[in-house]
Amino acid sequence: MIHPLEPQPSDPCHGDTSSPQWRPELEAKYAALGARLEPLIPCLEWSLYLPWIDAIQTLKRERGAVIMAHSYQSPEIFHGVADITGDSLALAQAASACDAQLIVLCGVHFMAESAKILAPDRTVLIPDLEAGCSLASSITAADIRELRQRHPGAPVVSYVNTSAEVKAESDACCTSANAVQVVEAMGADKVIFLPDRYLGRHVAQQTGVELVLWNGCCEVHEQFTAQQARDARERFDAKLVAHPECPPEVQDEADFVGSTTAMGAWLEKTQPQRVALITECSMADNLRSRFPEVEFIQPCNLCPHMKRITLPNIHACLRDLRHEVTVPEAIADRARAALERMLAIGRRDRV
Ligand code: 13P
Ligand code: SF4
Repeated sequence: MIHPLEPQPSDPCHGDTSSPQWRPELEAKYAALGARLEPLIPCLEWSLYLPWIDAIQTLKRERGAVIMAHSYQSPEIFHGVADITGDSLALAQAASACDAQLIVLCGVHFMAESAKILAPDRTVLIPDLEAGCSLASSITAADIRELRQRHPGAPVVSYVNTSAEVKAESDACCTSANAVQVVEAMGADKVIFLPDRYLGRHVAQQTGVELVLWNGCCEVHEQFTAQQARDARERFDAKLVAHPECPPEVQDEADFVGSTTAMGAWLEKTQPQRVALITECSMADNLRSRFPEVEFIQPCNLCPHMKRITLPNIHACLRDLRHEVTVPEAIADRARAALERMLAIGRRDRV
């Protein structure tokens, strides 16, 4: 049971008249959600989140909107307001099948762009336009054209963590859930694979196809060290699960390396007593409620871009219908071909 403190009139968080106000009846209305979030959210925060969750749910119904949230979103968003949750492949699949006219994408900009490309007649909003990604900003469309000149005839597979312009220059997209299968589907001896060099190395270990890699990396996963991984194993007797965006020496320590969705599938299959998820911090929060019997050791690196999305800016996004994500048609048409090639292959995580 979470016991919210009744906010005081002098509370700066509640002094803003545009903020939805806490009301005692909200506690009963969201009792089931509160019970689910109790292990994930400090109890003092619950009374601050509840009015926003209620206001967002109301606006969402009025607008006929669907909220999609990536697995790295904070629990109050992931569990509190999202209709569809998952990894970047799941969100792309959901966008391409979406009936709602309005999609609010709680994730980073490339995810919202992918949604818009796959659902061109829908309005796609992102609560903060500055929610970027170090991988997406590591490569441009001109870089790809130059790579093609240096490696004539080699097809280009780009990770979805790229801009629409880069996707438009690519033969196919992939996520960490299907990268090996997409590379092999190119039917070539040599493939240009970008921009994540660590994911590239992980893929290269599983295929005979020669990969030309780019020097991009994720600023969040890059910070994990092999020493941290060993500490988690030795001090806590934990199993280690790492995202393929982690450096090679961290992946080499792990019991399992896979996409965010594959991590959940691995936990389901393996049922470890204790696990360290070597990935963005919220992933463990969001899986903890699904696996109450597993103890999560949390090596905690937050993605500053994912964390730009908050309940107040989701509310403002629905209220003011901002910020719309658009992609010029000529770019969208070419990028869609690359994304659809990936969707046709689907999910092939090996667990
Ligand atoms: P997934 O493809 O596993 O969702 O990962 C996306 C991402 O941004 C990881 O940092
Ligand atoms: Fe990009 Fe890394 Fe953040 Fe994922 S965790 S969105 S790859 S910066």
